[in-house]
Amino acid sequence: MDPYKVGENHELIEDKVKRTERGAWYTPRQLVKQLMRMLWDHIDVNEQIFVDPTCGGGAFLLAAADQLVANGVDSADALNRLHGLDIDQGAVEACREALRLWAKENDCYKGSIEAKLEQRIVKGDALKGFPKTWSPSRIYVGNPPFGSPLKSNSSEVADEFRKNRKEVFGPYADRSSLHFANCLENSDDTSTVFMVMPLSVVATKHLERFRGLVEIYNFNALWVADTFLFDASIKTCAVLVGGSASGDGGVRSVALYSGAEVRSEPVSQSSSWSELAADALGVPKVNSVGTSNFEGLVEATAGFRDEYYGLAEVCVENRSTTGSTVRLATTGMLGLLDCSWGEKEARFAKKRFSQPVVPKNVDDAKIQSWIERQLAPKVLVPTQAKVFKPFVDLDSAYVATTPILVVTGGDLLGFVAALFSPVVNLLAFRRNYGAGLSSTAIKLRATDLLKLPQPIEQQLWNQGREMVAELVQGTPNQSDLVDLASLMNRAYRGDKELLDWWVDRAF
Ligand SMILES: C[S@@+](CC[C@H](N)C(=O)[O-])C[C@H]1O[C@@H](n2cnc3c(N)ncnc32)[C@H](O)[C@@H]1O
Repeated sequence: MDPYKVGENHELIEDKVKRTERGAWYTPRQLVKQLMRMLWDHIDVNEQIFVDPTCGGGAFLLAAADQLVANGVDSADALNRLHGLDIDQGAVEACREALRLWAKENDCYKGSIEAKLEQRIVKGDALKGFPKTWSPSRIYVGNPPFGSPLKSNSSEVADEFRKNRKEVFGPYADRSSLHFANCLENSDDTSTVFMVMPLSVVATKHLERFRGLVEIYNFNALWVADTFLFDASIKTCAVLVGGSASGDGGVRSVALYSGAEVRSEPVSQSSSWSELAADALGVPKVNSVGTSNFEGLVEATAGFRDEYYGLAEVCVENRSTTGSTVRLATTGMLGLLDCSWGEKEARFAKKRFSQPVVPKNVDDAKIQSWIERQLAPKVLVPTQAKVFKPFVDLDSAYVATTPILVVTGGDLLGFVAALFSPVVNLLAFRRNYGAGLSSTAIKLRATDLLKLPQPIEQQLWNQGREMVAELVQGTPNQSDLVDLASLMNRAYRGDKELLDWWVDRAF
């Protein structure tokens, strides 16, 4: 029987609840083989052992053994280097059986292997440490369980591990990052850590310090997939630390790989992980932009869950003739300089409305202050869309609900003009790549908006402001909007290709 089949079968028979608890979504073998080739681009295998801390059916260990043999290592020697841990006894048995079959297939099965398998493929919680008898010179590989601690699949050991490392992990740090850090902590100078993780690792703020930690070690290569490659419907990446450096010394360089085939892409020196992921997937680069941003020119705020639920409680169908209510704007209503309130049915907090409104005065002090803050001229920007879709509300006619960003302050029209620039859209897309639910949308926070650069060409920016002022008086059509984007593209010295990129995404 095919050794990989053992793990695949084990996965199939596992009960769904238990499987979710363990995060047991095994890596497809074709992908493991390609990832192993990627690893081999960056390591010099000497005496190191291979350790998969969450080995499941042993897919990574099998691929490591194949790769060792392909590189001239004797099969018995290759087998001796494989070590795995899993919290589940069934997975441990499956992994041992897979390696037994591999040994038979590679003509190195002997009775003495059984005792070795018992010492090297063991049941245990990796976050509690590794057997002391294993050599410290290790190449860690694998696909640890994913999941936020908010989900029920967090364990006490994981919670404790996270709590004891507050300097590295935010409260919602994904489980896989704990395993990665655990391997780094159990490494020596000769070690390499190479693991599959959720793509959100490149962007989430809860892992900002974790990314900093990885940078301190030798962050060497990144693989990014823009499609779902696992049953678990989650986009993934793989991070490689250690091994031979990817650049020529000097500036830190990261070797990039993409897609199901783990294709090699040009090395990148982009500083943020989101940008590295964007580079891996061929998202165009942004030419240099000015250093002035929008901090101090406008203010941006965002409501959270409380504001959403607070507004949901008081939202009603519009019947008032006294001006005691204000229109409620939801993400679904917002388009480019447009809000479809009252034109089509709206959904908010699982209810349908023709014209949703909220009272200007409510009992809850927090919601009252959120409403009052918005009874002012402002710009509403959805947090997640393919291009920025600002809506200008100079008449203070709307109150926005989460997750819309509310921008107030001095130069609102100048800010809106800037949001139409393809350069600014691309920059925001690259800076926040991997943060959204969808990898095609720009996802951003209030502070990200303020960090966007101002235009370089002041005169063109002035024209942009005037154009926005004119367009918001009427109902702009597609050609008006493209003209504005084109003007603002020039204000940032963007090229035609970039304008096409924006148009493609906007309509
Ligand atoms: C996503 S699967 C990956 C298995 C294998 N590495 C692969 O790629 O096919 C994760 C595995 O981690 C195991 N696991 C979960 N938490 C663990 C822990 N704290 N220590 C060791 N194994 C764990 C699960 O039982 C499951 O088999």
